[in-house]
Amino acid sequence: MRIDILTLFPALFEGPFSESMIKRACEAGHVEIHLHDIRDYSKDKHRKVDDYPFGGGAGMVMAIQPIADAIDHLKSERDYDHIIYMTPDGKTLNQGLANHLSLSGNIILLCGHYKGIDQRLRDHYITDEISIGDYVLTGGELAACVVVDAVVRLLPGVLSDEESALTDSFQDNLLAPPIYTRPSDYNGWKVPDILLSGHEAKIEEWRMQQALERTKRLRPDLLK
Ligand code: ADE
Repeated sequence: MRIDILTLFPALFEGPFSESMIKRACEAGHVEIHLHDIRDYSKDKHRKVDDYPFGGGAGMVMAIQPIADAIDHLKSERDYDHIIYMTPDGKTLNQGLANHLSLSGNIILLCGHYKGIDQRLRDHYITDEISIGDYVLTGGELAACVVVDAVVRLLPGVLSDEESALTDSFQDNLLAPPIYTRPSDYNGWKVPDILLSGHEAKIEEWRMQQALERTKRLRPDLLK
């Protein structure tokens, strides 16, 4: 998979992408992540990328030219399955959407700033708009990191068997059951006996009951 990220702040991605799972996935060739500074595409002599909104009002708007040229340049080199704009008014990211995106070959993630991007970019270039939740971030960068993390860990080979995404919360619309490790008794706080019984089928049944009970109690909306 190849992910191209268009941003005004490429350095914001350095930390998250140079540690842990994403770093390993890049090094092993499971994913290629390319960062592009939108300012590099500005034709303005001061590398300006924004302008005042028509009709007045507070805040600046990211202009068409630099973003259109950046996307045109990328599209001239390869086809993209999704050209995604990160925005709080997009479709809320969930595990199903992450699963869907993980089947892509190439995707573009466009990070907005200020009041957002000129609507015509959304009308003519953007194929998907994604929000990571009902709150407003300073820009799309942290949201794009969340999408990359949620998607890359699903790519074949990225997680080991022990880390497998198949048992994650949400994979079957259920929260994950409680988990424990040694010691089995910590100052009188005991691990449920069933997990120490060695009885695989009963343990599986217990985990399923716990997952259902937790989901009913904490996230009944997932069961609808
Ligand atoms: N940009 C600003 N806020 C955002 C959010 N909640 N999700 C995605 N992109 C954003």
